[in-house]
Amino acid sequence: MRGSGPLEGSVRVEGAKNSVLKLMAASLMADGRSVLRNVPHIVDVEIMSDLLTSMGANVRRTEDHVLTIDVGPDLIAEAPYELVEQMRASIAVLGPLLARAGFARVALPGGDNFGPRPIDMHIAGLEALGVEFHSAHGYIEARCDQLTGNRVVLEFPSVGATENLLMAAVRAKGTTVIDNAAREPEIADLCAFLVRMGARIVGGGTSSIEIEGVDELSPVDHTVIPDRIEAGTFLAALGVAGGEITLEGARADHMDMLIRKLGDMGMRVSPSSDGVWAQSKGRIRAADVSTLPYPGIATDYKPFFVAMLAVAEGVGIVTENLFSGRFRYVDELVRMGADIRTEGHHAVVRGRPRLSGAPVRAPDIRAGAALVVAGLGADGETTVMDAHHIARGYEHFADKLAAVGAHVTPS
Ligand code: EPU
Repeated sequence: MRGSGPLEGSVRVEGAKNSVLKLMAASLMADGRSVLRNVPHIVDVEIMSDLLTSMGANVRRTEDHVLTIDVGPDLIAEAPYELVEQMRASIAVLGPLLARAGFARVALPGGDNFGPRPIDMHIAGLEALGVEFHSAHGYIEARCDQLTGNRVVLEFPSVGATENLLMAAVRAKGTTVIDNAAREPEIADLCAFLVRMGARIVGGGTSSIEIEGVDELSPVDHTVIPDRIEAGTFLAALGVAGGEITLEGARADHMDMLIRKLGDMGMRVSPSSDGVWAQSKGRIRAADVSTLPYPGIATDYKPFFVAMLAVAEGVGIVTENLFSGRFRYVDELVRMGADIRTEGHHAVVRGRPRLSGAPVRAPDIRAGAALVVAGLGADGETTVMDAHHIARGYEHFADKLAAVGAHVTPS
């Protein structure tokens, strides 16, 4: 891509990756046909489809952005290494398999580009519901004759642990309370899906969720919430390139803190009749940013802030509070002329008027997209290699940017 701007026009925001993957896993809990709408065309959905298929479900795209999942009575309760290795979110099948079959064999996910990512909170929470774990040969085996409700206090509001516990608790005997639960909109979406299936849940989307176990669940038809991270990516592109865009289908109420911070940086972002409207005039101003669990600023937005700050007026400090190794793309931005120094969980970014286009390598989904965003503020040409990472979480990313006037061509 080349330096671009101003951006002008409208971009459609797809369904949320981090919601749809969990809803697909949750579909395993009811026999029959579930229908998911607003499902993005992204590689991670394909990987989750392969995983459900390997377990015996029938997963098909019946229409554009519509996925049907047929689940029969006989499921193979196993998530093989070849698929878990490709996508850590595969661990989301653990809770549903336990709820359904009282047994699950799931390959242990390894570390990734974010550093080590343990699943100890998933395990401790499920143990409190009566599950026994054994690990051997790179797999964990979880077993339980009868899931039993309990009070679980999470050490940290982990998204994945909250989801696995929720899904198991829905079929447990008695009442489960998850305290210090994650509050992300994707958790509220999962709760809405489960309630529609017949679950009894109060407090989804708050830090205390109460679940009363039920004996039976039925398949449902559900529309996935919009992807707040995809929306944030386009807002960052606007911050770097300037202009005025509408994000069709986006929800401003899922991005409160992000919108406030972008306001501090000089952008205007507000809800509109069909989504979110945003404008960026002149050079954005630097601000300090700290990532926190929702409703704080998501860790997934962090590479976009670093890219924006690289061309902002002034100095901004970015602090990562969730993952240990999430500054790996910084070296790539430095190769584009950005002035960034990292120290532990902090990055100090001194804005430059322009970056300088260079060949760079995408280390993961979000950082890959952030390198594209940075390229919009660079003189000359930027080539993002390993761009296949971006396709894991974004539908037609380059085409969508090009449609609002960015000089981007897909590789
Ligand atoms: N953690 C533990 N033990 C656990 C679980 C988590 O120590 O048992 C730690 C993690 O290592 C991390 C922190 O707790 O330091 C937060 O992890 P969390 O469980 O909340 O994250 P996750 O469920 O693995 C999801 C998203 C991520 C997003 C994080 C944080 C999906 C598929 N992934 O991961 O999104 O960054 O929540 O909001 O939902 C992405 O979309 O590219 C992505 C990585």
